[in-house]
Amino acid sequence: MNQQKSCPITSQVGQLFHSSKKRSYPHHMDEHHTLLYTIQSANWRDLNALRRLEQVCFPKDGWPLLDLIGVLTYPNIVRLKAVVEDKMVGFIAGDRRDEGYLGWIATVGVLPNYRRQGIATALILECERQLNTAVVRLNVRRSNTQAISLYKQLGYVQISTWPGYYSDGEEALIFEKQIWR
Ligand SMILES: CC(C)(COP(=O)(O)OP(=O)(O)OC[C@H]1O[C@@H](n2cnc3c(N)ncnc32)[C@H](O)[C@@H]1OP(=O)(O)O)[C@@H](O)C(=O)NCCC(=O)NCCS
Repeated sequence: MNQQKSCPITSQVGQLFHSSKKRSYPHHMDEHHTLLYTIQSANWRDLNALRRLEQVCFPKDGWPLLDLIGVLTYPNIVRLKAVVEDKMVGFIAGDRRDEGYLGWIATVGVLPNYRRQGIATALILECERQLNTAVVRLNVRRSNTQAISLYKQLGYVQISTWPGYYSDGEEALIFEKQIWR
């Protein structure tokens, strides 16, 4: 798949590129200053970009190299990247459990300059579609209010907690979305 998406741009990304003297808008935006990105399947060639994205997005919980290789290569994993002009700016991975009844989103992250453009929303919706499970779950730090807002907006509801789940002792909240019955 290779889906072209677009959304209004309001952040520093727009200001950054508006300073270009060559043309009034860069070619990854349209004339309405809309950021253009694609959602594509990721693979092992994305390892270096994914390492950089992990370091920026998850300074406390970044996965070790072996886990990153695993998420890009193991079978039965939905792995998607958001791309702007050949650059990976977002990533999501999810897997199927319980004989295909349950999907679990293991990670989702978007680079800071590309946030609030709907990219995480697009990644999650496409991941849900490709998982094609009745239910999708994920866990999130109790303090991660940005991600919690995102999940609630997409219809996820909190179903339980895992006390002390993260390495620094923070509690995890478990969210679930019913996709189909
Ligand atoms: C959480 C994260 C993935 C959101 O990515 P994003 O592309 O900016 O998300 P979207 O643009 O799709 O946001 C959709 C909605 O989520 C909510 N949201 C997202 N970021 C928010 C923020 N900083 N503050 C408040 N609400 C926020 C809003 O309701 C937003 O809709 P709106 O922009 O119309 O108000 C991104 O901030 C990130 O990578 N954070 C670091 C990694 C992380 O915490 N990942 C989740 C781990 S469980």
